[in-house]
Amino acid sequence: MKTENKCAEKYFEIYGKDPENVGFCPYRISPLGAHIDHQYGKINGLAIDKGIYIAYSVKKNGVVELQSLNFPKRAQFHISSVPEEKVGDWADHLRGATKVLNEKYPLRYGMSAVIEGTLPVGGLSSSAAVIIVFMKALCRLNNIELSDWELIMMAKKAENEYVGVNCGKLDQACEVLCKKDHLLYLDCKDDSCELIPVNSDMKPYSIAIFFSGLERSLANSAYNLRQDECKAAAYDLLAYAGMDYGKFIDTRLRDVPFEVYQEYKDRLPDNFRRRAKHYFNEIYRAEQGAKAWKHGDLDTYGKLVFESGYSSIHNYECGCPELITLYDIMTKTDGIYGGRFSGAGFKGCCMALIDPNKEEEILNKVEEAYLKEYPSLKGKYISAICHSTDGVGEGL
Ligand code: GLA
Repeated sequence: MKTENKCAEKYFEIYGKDPENVGFCPYRISPLGAHIDHQYGKINGLAIDKGIYIAYSVKKNGVVELQSLNFPKRAQFHISSVPEEKVGDWADHLRGATKVLNEKYPLRYGMSAVIEGTLPVGGLSSSAAVIIVFMKALCRLNNIELSDWELIMMAKKAENEYVGVNCGKLDQACEVLCKKDHLLYLDCKDDSCELIPVNSDMKPYSIAIFFSGLERSLANSAYNLRQDECKAAAYDLLAYAGMDYGKFIDTRLRDVPFEVYQEYKDRLPDNFRRRAKHYFNEIYRAEQGAKAWKHGDLDTYGKLVFESGYSSIHNYECGCPELITLYDIMTKTDGIYGGRFSGAGFKGCCMALIDPNKEEEILNKVEEAYLKEYPSLKGKYISAICHSTDGVGEGL
């Protein structure tokens, strides 16, 4: 059991007794496969040893009462009377999780709980982690056994349908399926996946997280718009080629054969063309990355990660100035194999695979260069070193 969290202590402070259980769900990084999960592309992911803890005990009257150490207001609702519409605060993730679970497996018991995220919000998929850790706790209290994929798809549904973000399954899959010292290589079209072990010839690496100091919520970003642009590109390309394009809502860039993209891409409006370019290059990078990882070739892997970052900025256009600055600094810092925005990239953080022997100098150098550009973010900017870990899996 990890002990770095304060939520069990806080639980004791509030309730005067120890919690019955403490659960943990890791955050994730996705070095390759950015923004293509929702187009049914392929992704690479790792779960990291920072994440969300929940200290909880059963409440037999069905009430959920939950205090977060990161957000001010305590959430309180009954498992069978979750509001139909989201309320607009952090606890929507919990309400969504309860609603989705309750629809399939009627719930009896609620909980009193304290929840804590160990790093700032943004880029590491704390949204999926909070849903997963809470769903797992509800399942345990109500004697429900979910398979890994059931958990992944229900957590995604809560975020898509209740919170209102059309995310793909990258976050949930990484946070559930990953394995320490293995790279998750997932095909989001048919859910086939491989856990590729670190090759014994591979140079050692650590994972660095550089927080811009800007916390974000995908619900307010251009995340959903970018997806529509991808779908529009797919729709157009299929139509140009005289192919069947079905319903817009069900269309994805994965439906478009590469030859069709190559032949008709120049007819696309500029924005749509760049989104499609990102998709086709990124799926290739995820495939090449899986091969490089298999061969223990961290230099090639890192190069692909930097290229992915470049494409996110110039083709997918999802950076903000602060994150782009961090990306530029990373490309010029010795000892960083590769780095990019972690997650969607509208705010939040960058991730990098780095040489463990140079951790301190890398963290110092990036911080110094970043705060020189953004002195007002001093105190908000932070960095951290992490390592890969297991997803929640069937445990907890
Ligand atoms: C967010 C979403 C994911 C994925 C990434 C970008 O984390 O939740 O589904 O699209 O952005 O790769």
